[in-house]
Amino acid sequence: SKFSSSYPHRAFRSVLLWAILTQLLLCRNGVFAGDGTKACKLRHESASQRKVLEQLEPLAHRNLSVVVTEEKGNYTYVFQLCGDAGGVPNAGVIQKKTGSQDKPTIIGLYTSTEAIGGSDWVMLRYYDGEKYDEHCSHEDRRAIIMISCNKNKEAGDLEAILEDSERPKDCFYLFELDSSAVCPPVQSQLSAGSIILIIGFCLVAVYLIGGFLYQRLIVGAKGMEQFPNYAFWVEVGNLSADGCDFVCRSKNREEAPAYRGVSADALDEEPEERDDHLLPM
Ligand SMILES: *[C@@H]1O[C@H](CO)[C@@H](O)[C@H](O)[C@H]1NC(C)=O
Ligand SMILES: *[C@@H]1O[C@H](CO)[C@@H](O)[C@H](O)[C@H]1NC(C)=O
Repeated sequence: SKFSSSYPHRAFRSVLLWAILTQLLLCRNGVFAGDGTKACKLRHESASQRKVLEQLEPLAHRNLSVVVTEEKGNYTYVFQLCGDAGGVPNAGVIQKKTGSQDKPTIIGLYTSTEAIGGSDWVMLRYYDGEKYDEHCSHEDRRAIIMISCNKNKEAGDLEAILEDSERPKDCFYLFELDSSAVCPPVQSQLSAGSIILIIGFCLVAVYLIGGFLYQRLIVGAKGMEQFPNYAFWVEVGNLSADGCDFVCRSKNREEAPAYRGVSADALDEEPEERDDHLLPM
């Protein structure tokens, strides 16, 4: 009958559609990856540092802050990856004294970045902050942000580790941050065999679900008849049963054809009914 010939065709088209949709999604992610870190200017442009920055993409567009209590008062530090920290133009890290109206002190600029990456960490340095007033030979402030792998957090809490300013030169503010963005990519543990198995299962699932829906919604089948190509599988079942019967049973083999005849007759009737139902008015 006509539905059995159109079903495989439809199933193929639906699989094709899903494949195309999946491809589109993957492409979309590919095209936009790395945009959130474009604003960072590297002190010395290099492809490897760009790659390290792009790895940090999930951290982009967030103000991450931490409050530090000191004798002089409480300070809030705000960090943003390649974006205006606390809204201060070009600042990657700023320091604000809690409760004061003074404008924030810029610790480092994301327009003067260095990015160094290891297997499960990234060290980000922002240079060209405001000059120290008294310490560090009045050199520019700078920030170091150590980002470590933590599989459970996309962006953990920012922590202020130390302000190393009691020396004549090369002072820095050190921060730590956990993020899953710097974790090594998970190696696929699947062998080719298991991938083929999984694909097989998926195809069977698509076949069963698609066929079920087709039979139910378009053909209007009920009960067991909703299984795709029901008649065909019943036939397969009967043939295997016959085969088994032939191989395993030691007597009464003559009765088998009679049973088969009954079930084949019963099957022949029902598709007729369905076809009547489908006839155009
Ligand atoms: C700093 O913060 C602590 C609590 O975190 C608070 O007890 C203290 O009063 C604050 N100090 C100032 C100067 O605001
Ligand atoms: C960061 O904070 C500033 C000041 O509070 C705000 O103007 C800006 O929109 C924030 N940016 C993001 C991405 O949250």
